Amino acid sequence: MTRPDPHVVVIFGATGDLATRKLIPGLFHLAAAGLLPENYRVVGSAPASAAMSDADFRDHAHEAVATYGLTQPAGKAWKSFEAALSFGAADPDNPEPLLTKVKAAEDALGGRPRRLFHLAVPPAASRSVIGMLGATGLAKNGRVIVEKPFGTDLASARELNRIIHSVFDESRVFRIDHFLGKESVENILALRFANGLFEPIWNRDHISAVQIDVPETIGIEGRAQFFEETGTFRDMLVTHLIQVLSLVAMEPPASLEAGPLRDEKVKVFRAMRPIDPAHVVRGQYEGYREEPGVAPDSATETFVAMRVEVDNRRWAGVPFYLRSGKSLAQRRQVISLSLREPPLRMFPGDETAGDDSIVIDFGDPGWIAARFLAKKPGPAMHLSPARMTFRYGDTFREKNALEGYERLILDAMLGDQALFTRSDGIERIWETASDLLTNPPPLQPYAVGSWGPEPAATDLIAPYRWYLPEGEEKPDS
Ligand code: BG6
Repeated sequence: MTRPDPHVVVIFGATGDLATRKLIPGLFHLAAAGLLPENYRVVGSAPASAAMSDADFRDHAHEAVATYGLTQPAGKAWKSFEAALSFGAADPDNPEPLLTKVKAAEDALGGRPRRLFHLAVPPAASRSVIGMLGATGLAKNGRVIVEKPFGTDLASARELNRIIHSVFDESRVFRIDHFLGKESVENILALRFANGLFEPIWNRDHISAVQIDVPETIGIEGRAQFFEETGTFRDMLVTHLIQVLSLVAMEPPASLEAGPLRDEKVKVFRAMRPIDPAHVVRGQYEGYREEPGVAPDSATETFVAMRVEVDNRRWAGVPFYLRSGKSLAQRRQVISLSLREPPLRMFPGDETAGDDSIVIDFGDPGWIAARFLAKKPGPAMHLSPARMTFRYGDTFREKNALEGYERLILDAMLGDQALFTRSDGIERIWETASDLLTNPPPLQPYAVGSWGPEPAATDLIAPYRWYLPEGEEKPDS
């Protein structure tokens, strides 16, 4: 594998939740796996009010890796990673400490290392950091990783893109969606386009409905301020679920390079009909309004189920159902494609027909199953549901796997934008959501540990059914 060029990586929000849980442990895992550049430095940054010394930042990193990392912070690998860390505070009116540390890191590496800025900060802060990167000249030749939310509606998404583009041209912008870095999500492309078994049936002639279901058991976990402003539709649907939908629905790209791949994804977004508020169920879990920091009359949704349509030759008439919510009964990430029944029922007493499907579980490490009907052993011709299952864990050595964030940070260093979202795609998604954002359907309460508001969520998908929980036999059965 090609290793990236020498790099100085600057993490803004270096002591925040995301950096602590994902970015620092992820960078160390990449370093220990020999995937980072041979020569690199990581400069942590935060406003002066949260400034720390290099030694404190190294301690923070050690703690972060020990708590959240797959690879423990020890031995030679840790020593050399630790030696590459430093900290430089930056405020819009005083970026000097950061400039000094970036310069020191570049001098230590020699030559002209690349710069990669990871904006692990809330939207308002990322706007001011981008301005600072432009004003100080740091942005020159650098790449930037931007975290969601990419705006909150079409107008704000356009404004955010305008601010970003005033400093970084699109070829240097990496909008990160960690679902796209998951092995089992990228595998959708392999499953669809590398296999004679699946490729020919992946269309409206053979598939009658698609569902992408991402229930979560966690609540808002102390993120009241973020969640009150964001809600499940913006936090999960606009980003993760619709991104996954684009991989399920896209036409075969001319190649897997960023250009053709992202063109095909954007074509899916263009073919998506505006989301009809009548096809959306919004829920809020009971007790949400009592969470610290949540308004007592909050109208923020913690659950969304909705139906979208992709109006093109491949998918016309095939509904796509999306569901995600907090405080639900299970934490799962599942795509299920219902297969059309063959034209004639020739098996007497066959009441189980109609559940044929391809199921993709994309929770790490994930599995794929084909659900079909088989003859039940015995003298009579009776059918019974059966399944064929591929499991990542059984087939591949997981130790080679990278976590979503790790894979994407590595891609950003290599300059490969294929798995990152593009500004026109984001804007189009917001455009399809504009009716929904202006006329959201009423909120419906649901019990913690349930499957969301009922019967609304079941009615939405009828005559189909959610694969979870009823559709699932025990995975090993
Ligand atoms: C994040 C959302 O992007 O994704 C969270 O902000 C959500 O609300 C999380 O819980 C889910 O991702 P994962 O990888 O933890 O399943």
